[in-house]
Amino acid sequence: MPRDGQSVLHVQGLKTVFSTRSGDIHAVNRVSFALQPGELLGVVGESGSGKSVTMMSLIGLLPMPPAEVREGSVQFDGHDLLKLGRKELQALRGRDIGFVFQDPMTSLNPVFTVGFQIMEPLRRHMGMDKPAARRRAAELLQLVGISDAERRLRDFPHQFSGGMRQRVMIAIALACDPKVLIADEPTTALDVTIQAQILELVKELRQKLGMSIIWITHDLGVIAGIADRVMVMYGGQVVEYGPVREVFSNPAHPYTRALMTTVPSVRGARAEKLNVIEGQPPILSQHPTACPFCARCPKAFDRCGRENPRRYTVAPGHDTACFWDHETGGARDG
Ligand SMILES: Nc1ncnc2c1ncn2[C@@H]1O[C@H](COP(=O)(O)OP(=O)(O)O)[C@@H](O)[C@H]1O
Ligand SMILES: [Mg+2]
Repeated sequence: MPRDGQSVLHVQGLKTVFSTRSGDIHAVNRVSFALQPGELLGVVGESGSGKSVTMMSLIGLLPMPPAEVREGSVQFDGHDLLKLGRKELQALRGRDIGFVFQDPMTSLNPVFTVGFQIMEPLRRHMGMDKPAARRRAAELLQLVGISDAERRLRDFPHQFSGGMRQRVMIAIALACDPKVLIADEPTTALDVTIQAQILELVKELRQKLGMSIIWITHDLGVIAGIADRVMVMYGGQVVEYGPVREVFSNPAHPYTRALMTTVPSVRGARAEKLNVIEGQPPILSQHPTACPFCARCPKAFDRCGRENPRRYTVAPGHDTACFWDHETGGARDG
């Protein structure tokens, strides 16, 4: 993984555990990645692979307990976010790091107008007075492609369609001009056409505003369309990481390869559930002493069941946590 002094966000060895009555759940294990300025990092993996918990760990959004970030560091803007207090993190969220979650109906408050909800971070983080915040809120609605913005500020969330509500969420996330936008499956609940429109919007906004984006999805087609780099997660770990073109043309991890075969054609492919890969997802209640994909892996051999692989370099900037790939070069000639 890159160790680059210029990265906006640098996550190193993140480990998050949930303590439950039946024992620990190792939801995120040794996750490392870096986000460059202006980069769009796509994070992909089947449900339960630790994508959301990873991102929520970074910005202190997990309920602690039961969650506990046991190890790691998260460098952002000269600080280790894992060492900040609750108040400091709160100040940073929504100001320096914006986020958008899957379901805009539960993320927007139904009893307040959309205008109020966009103005709220502007007043809280930027100290704007009401008229200034209102002007900026209207600008933001326009920016995300909602017409008649002045009037629509007075509307309530239920007066917007699903796609429009997701645009509003993006407007809120962008309100304070964040350095990083984290979007957790923000288009999953939307139909394909609306999904495509939101993706277009995000591409355009990135061009215009130059922020870095982390985009979580289970849709490899989406990643092919918008991401610069991809991080593939499985069983709470990063199994493959690298530039999109490189990973798509030369996938190293058997899980990534399996993912690619579940998507009919990667370019412009429709969302497909990833769980068509045979076998059960890993049990996260044991400390991982083997490769988490071992039981489902067509390439597994004895070492895979004894040892959890670290990440090996495949090509510059491209790595994978796989003994088979490391020891055979992924049999890439074949
Ligand atoms: N509140 C919780 N209590 C216990 N375990 C949890 C909790 N939230 C998430 N987990 C565990 O963390 C794992 C990763 O979850 P998550 O990050 O939400 O997956 P993803 O976003 O990739 O679908 C899940 O498989 C689950 O076992
Ligand atoms: Mg999730």
